[in-house]
Amino acid sequence: MTGFLSRAEARIRPADGQDAEAVARIFVETWQAAYPGILAERVLTGLSVERQFAYWRGVIAGREQTVFVADSQGVVGFAACGVARPRLAGYRGEVFTLYILPDRQGEGIGRALFSVALTRLAKRDLMPALVWVLADNPARFFYERLGGKRAGERDDKLGDKPHREIAYGWSAVPTPTDPC
Ligand SMILES: CC(C)(COP(=O)(O)OP(=O)(O)OC[C@H]1O[C@@H](n2cnc3c(N)ncnc32)[C@H](O)[C@@H]1OP(=O)(O)O)[C@@H](O)C(=O)NCCC(=O)NCCS
Repeated sequence: MTGFLSRAEARIRPADGQDAEAVARIFVETWQAAYPGILAERVLTGLSVERQFAYWRGVIAGREQTVFVADSQGVVGFAACGVARPRLAGYRGEVFTLYILPDRQGEGIGRALFSVALTRLAKRDLMPALVWVLADNPARFFYERLGGKRAGERDDKLGDKPHREIAYGWSAVPTPTDPC
């Protein structure tokens, strides 16, 4: 597979075990940049690259989630997708995670990663697919921009605080399509 190029010429490719550390660092850095004022400070300061590394190494090695990375002179973003959990009214697939390093946001990398993840779900017959996003997270407007339709709401807990989450759904892959 040659990979898929974003507008920023980041190459989107499946993650391998060597990407686990970069993925862990991106997870911690993007959470700490995106979620102050949304999630409790204790949750953000308690994040650990070591723990995330152990988690993502297992996820990348396992079969439950497919992880893609955006590579642009190093890994600058990642997405994870798989069977929706729990299933919501006919939605079969889910993009669980999508994070781009703060200084590489706005270059088209998120759109490219998301398209590749949805394309993988479509190939696995896991469409329609959805994403859950914190209602307070401005990233939800990114999903609206990519054509996501509101599919549901739920309350979840992060730390000990309840948070409202909104689901956006897609029945088809938004363009550009994935040549992988
Ligand atoms: C949300 C995120 C994944 C978007 O990735 P990105 O690479 O910055 O976005 P892109 O450059 O691919 O943007 C694609 C389109 O969405 C729009 N967009 C991106 N973020 C947006 C936002 N917060 N609000 C409205 N539109 C947005 C862009 O303007 C672009 O529109 P265009 O095609 O008309 O130019 C990224 O900013 C990120 O990682 N944010 C922090 C972590 C996070 O909240 N992740 C989502 C968890 S559910």
